Amino acid sequence: MTNLHASQHPLVAHKLTRLRDRNTDPKKFRELVREIAALLAYEATADLQITPKKIETPLASLVGTELKEKIGLVPILRAGLGMVEGIWELMPTAEVWHIGLYRDERTLKPVEYYNKLPIEPTVSVCLILDPMLATGGSAVATVDVLKRWGVKKIKFVGLIGAPEGISALQIAHPDVPIYLAAIDERLNEHGYILPGLGDAGDRQFGTG
Ligand code: URA
Repeated sequence: MTNLHASQHPLVAHKLTRLRDRNTDPKKFRELVREIAALLAYEATADLQITPKKIETPLASLVGTELKEKIGLVPILRAGLGMVEGIWELMPTAEVWHIGLYRDERTLKPVEYYNKLPIEPTVSVCLILDPMLATGGSAVATVDVLKRWGVKKIKFVGLIGAPEGISALQIAHPDVPIYLAAIDERLNEHGYILPGLGDAGDRQFGTG
């Protein structure tokens, strides 16, 4: 499907390999998550709407460009948190709205435990941030929440996707483009992506 974008950028591939390495410590892991997230967000925002803006340079007048859309970053707690900082460097005025979902270990289904979205949407485009698109349950549930909130333009940005999670999200929300650093082989019986990188939350927060 055309809404799936796996980055072809050599920097992303290089950094992702270091991220996957079991010998990468949490400090380096967090740094790599930030950097890859920023590179992917750059790709994911290539179609943002713009409007002309007149300014004066020290030498002349110029009609330049201003972003028209208000961007919301929506990290899925907790693993998505590490992706915010890198993207914020590029888009410092983006709003950040946290969504808390945990995966029930028995059913592998998402359970919502944190959502403080106001009644009316305050942004026009949302980037959902979650490093691992595994079963797709959390991603589908988060898009459901954002659509109910009234956001028209939603994109998913993750580091690694499994074919199972990608198709679950594409089937439930074919209008949501998916941006990833890589597409891996499959899920194991515990819902982890193979070869993957292990538990993205534990590896960032040193809790593994
Ligand atoms: N969540 C993770 O952190 N890693 C996986 O491989 C799958 C889900």
